[in-house]
Amino acid sequence: MSRKPFIAGNWKMNMTVASGEKLINELKPLVKDANCDVCLCVPAILIPAMKKAAEGSNVEIGAENVHWAEKGAYTGEISADMLKDYGVKYVIIGHSERRQYFGETDETVNKRTHAALNAGLTPIVCVGELLEERESGKTNEVLDRQLKVGLNGIADVTKAVIAYEPVWAIGTGKTATDEQAQETIAYIRKKIGELFCPECAEKIIIQYGGSMNAANCKGLMAQPDIDGGLIGGASLKTDFATIVNYDK
Ligand code: PGA
Repeated sequence: MSRKPFIAGNWKMNMTVASGEKLINELKPLVKDANCDVCLCVPAILIPAMKKAAEGSNVEIGAENVHWAEKGAYTGEISADMLKDYGVKYVIIGHSERRQYFGETDETVNKRTHAALNAGLTPIVCVGELLEERESGKTNEVLDRQLKVGLNGIADVTKAVIAYEPVWAIGTGKTATDEQAQETIAYIRKKIGELFCPECAEKIIIQYGGSMNAANCKGLMAQPDIDGGLIGGASLKTDFATIVNYDK
C-alpha cells in the first residue's frame, strides 16, 4: 500500500503577519509541484492571515494545538470548531514542548485527539522519548505508553498522523540517524498494528521530526517507514521548500 508523503512545518511561537505572508509568498511557487502533502502549522492568531496568503496554493494551514471541549469556560483556549471555521485541516497535538512546559499528558493528548477527529480535523500526534529514556533503553516503553494512552479509543487511527520526534533531537541540531529514525518508526508502525489492526499500520502516515533540514531530509525520507517530516526551525525559511522537494 502506498502512503502519500506529508511534510509539515511547525512555526511554534514565531513570525508575524508580515513575515509570515512574506515567507508563504516566497514558498508558494517553490512548492507548487510537490509530490507530497504540504502544511504549515502556525500560531492560532496568524491562521486567518496565513490562510489568505496561501489561498489557491497547495500549502495547507494547520494549528499548533486544540482544546478538547466543544466550547465553554476555558479562558485562552481554542476549539476544533473555531479552527474549522478558518479552514484549518491539520492540528499538532502533544508536541514535546507542550508536554514539557504546559503540563500536557498522554491523557490530555487523547482528549484533544478525539476532539480533533470528531470535528473532522487531522491530528498530528507527537510522540518521542527524552535523552535519558533513550540512553537507559526505555524508548520503546515510552512510545508504548504514549501510543496506547494517547490514541486510546480512536475508531479509525488512520485518520490521524503520528510524528515521531525524539525530544533530544528537537531544536538541538542533533538529528536522529537515518537508521535510528527508521528503526523507531518501524517499531511505532508495528505497535499501531498491535493496538489497532495490521492494515492500519500499513496505512497510517508517520513523520519524523527533530532537526530535519535541507541537508538531511533526503536520507531520512529514503527510509521505508518514514512518510514525512515535522519541521521546526527549517520551516521558518525557504529551506522548507527544499525539504518539500526532497525527491527532486
Ligand atoms: P526542529 O523542531 O525541526 O526545530 O528540531 C521540530 C519540532 O519541534 O516539531
